[in-house]
Amino acid sequence: MTWQESAAKAVQRLVSRTGNPLFTRRQLIDSEIKQIIAETASAGETPDQTLSRVLQELRDQGVIKFEASGVYRLLKIVAKAYPRKNFFVQMFTKDISLEDCVLDLIDNSVDGFIKSRHLRLSEVASVFWEKKETKKRTSELPEIHVSLSDTKFEIRDNCGGIDFKDAQNEVFNFGHSTGWTSESLGVYGIGLKRALFKLGNHFEVFSQTTKNGFSCELDVDVWVEKDNSIDDWTFPLKEERAEPSFAKAGTRIRVNRLHDEVKMRMKTGTVESSLRKSISTTFSFFLNRYVKIFVNNQMVEPTPIPTSRPSKGTVSFERFPDDGVEIRILATLAKTGADGRYDQTQTGWYVICNGRAVLTADKGEITGWGISPMPAYHTQYGGFIGLVFFESANPMKMPWTTTKRSLNRESAIYLRTRGKMALAARPVLAFMRSKYSADYDTAPVERELARNTVEATPAQLATAKTVQFEVIKTAPPPNPTTRVQYYALNSDLDKIRKHLNKSRMSAVAIGEHTFNYFLDQEGLK
Ligand SMILES: Nc1ncnc2c1ncn2[C@@H]1O[C@H](COP(=O)(O)OP(=O)(O)OP(=O)(O)O)[C@@H](O)[C@H]1O
Ligand SMILES: [Mg+2]
Repeated sequence: MTWQESAAKAVQRLVSRTGNPLFTRRQLIDSEIKQIIAETASAGETPDQTLSRVLQELRDQGVIKFEASGVYRLLKIVAKAYPRKNFFVQMFTKDISLEDCVLDLIDNSVDGFIKSRHLRLSEVASVFWEKKETKKRTSELPEIHVSLSDTKFEIRDNCGGIDFKDAQNEVFNFGHSTGWTSESLGVYGIGLKRALFKLGNHFEVFSQTTKNGFSCELDVDVWVEKDNSIDDWTFPLKEERAEPSFAKAGTRIRVNRLHDEVKMRMKTGTVESSLRKSISTTFSFFLNRYVKIFVNNQMVEPTPIPTSRPSKGTVSFERFPDDGVEIRILATLAKTGADGRYDQTQTGWYVICNGRAVLTADKGEITGWGISPMPAYHTQYGGFIGLVFFESANPMKMPWTTTKRSLNRESAIYLRTRGKMALAARPVLAFMRSKYSADYDTAPVERELARNTVEATPAQLATAKTVQFEVIKTAPPPNPTTRVQYYALNSDLDKIRKHLNKSRMSAVAIGEHTFNYFLDQEGLK
C-alpha cells in the first residue's frame, strides 16, 4: 500500500473513532503511525516527516484542509456501508421456507447438468412445447439425491461438478458481480449460501469435475464472529483430485449441525412429503426427461399439468415476444378425474419460467384472480386451467422473486402478460359460469360438454396462430316432456286414496294416476 493510501485510511479511522472531522497531526502519529509503517512496509527513520509530506499531498488533492498549525479537517468523510455476516446468517434466511431452500439447491444441480453438457437452458425449456416426446433412457440420466433426517441434510448429484476456479472466485460470493451472466436457473448468486445458512451451523461442500476438485468445510458460528473487514469474507477451500469419470463428476453438500427449528420441522414428519410434492410440481418438466430426483432414496415422479380440450372447439392460445422474453399463454378446461370431477387442488394458473414452475394451480390475486377483468376465484371455476410460460436466454428478465416461488408484482413484463392472461381466460370462465346458470327445466348442455373433453398436453394444444377458447355447441335433443303442476284440495286427494285403497299414495302419484285415467277413458293413449 502506498503512503498516501495508508495515511488516508488512517485519517478515516481516526475521525470515525472520535466522531470529529477535526484532528491533529499528533493524534495521527500517536494512534496510527504503527499501522501506517506496517501497511507501507516503511524502513525509513523519519516516518513523522514522511507523514507531514503526505498530509500536504492529501491537502492538495482536497481530501483534507489545514485549519491551524498541526490541526486538520477531513473533507471527504465516508459512512461505512459494509455487509454484515450476521445479516446474511440470521435475517436473510427468514423469508424462505425449508422446502424452497432445497429447491434452490436442486436448481443448482440442474444448472450444473446444463452447464456440463453445454446445453442452452432456453432451448432445453422450449422442448416443453415440442409435440413429439423424445423419450430418453432414464437409466442414463444424472441423479440428484436429497437425504434428510432430524440430524443431517445431504444433497448429492452427478451433474458435472463445480469448477475449482469458479469456487474460488464466484460460487461462494453473496450475489454475482456486475456484468455476470449465465443462461441458468440461477440468477442472483445467493441460493446456495442462503440454503446452507438456513439449514444449519456446519456444512461441507465436496465437488469434482473431470478437470479438478475442491472441498470446503465451514463452522458458521466461528465464521460469523470475525467480521472486521472485507477480508474476513472468505471460506477456506481445499484442493481435491479430479473425477476421471464424467458420469460420476458432481457435487455433495452436507449440513451437519441442523438448526433447532429445522430439526423441529423434520421431526413433525411433514417436510419429506411436502418437499416431494414441491419437487414433483416445480421440476415436473425436467423430471425423468433430464434428471431423476430422489428424496430419501425414493424417486419423485412428475405431476403433469392436467390439461384437456373440448372435443369440439378450441382452447385459448397466444405466443408473443416481450423485451427479450418469449411468452406463451394457454387457457382451457382441466382434465376430469375417473369420477368425472375436477381435482381443484390441480386447477388454476400455472406460471413456468424456463421450464421451472414458479406458481402451480394458483387461485390468488398474483395471477389476476379478483383483478378486473378476471373474477375472484370461485369453485364454479374449478375446471379452469391456465398456463403461462416465460422463456429467455437471459434469466435476469424472468418475472420471478428471488425465492422463485412467486412472481414479482412490479415486473413490467409480468404486468403486461397478466392483462393478456385475463383475456385468454375470459371465454373459458364464461363457459364455466354458463354451466351453473342452467334453466330449471332443460338439462345444462355445458355440463355435458365439460365431460366431453379430450385429454391433451400443453404441447399438443399449442397453435401457430392466436386462438380464443370456444366450445361448439350441438343442440341438445328436444325434451318431450313438460312438468305439470296444480293445486288440489287435500280432502279430494284423501277421497281418491280411500277410493283406490292406497292410504299412503303421494300427491305426485295421484296426479299421474288421474292424468293417465283421463287419457285411457278418452281413448287418447
Ligand atoms: N450442485 C452444483 N453443481 C454445479 N454448480 C453448482 C452447484 N451448486 C452450486 N453451483 C453453482 O454455484 C453458483 C452459486 O450458486 P447460488 O445458488 O448461490 O447462485 P445462483 O444459482 O447463481 O443464483 P440464485 O441465487 O438465483 O440461485 C452458481 O453458479 C451455481 O450454478
Ligand atoms: Mg442457485
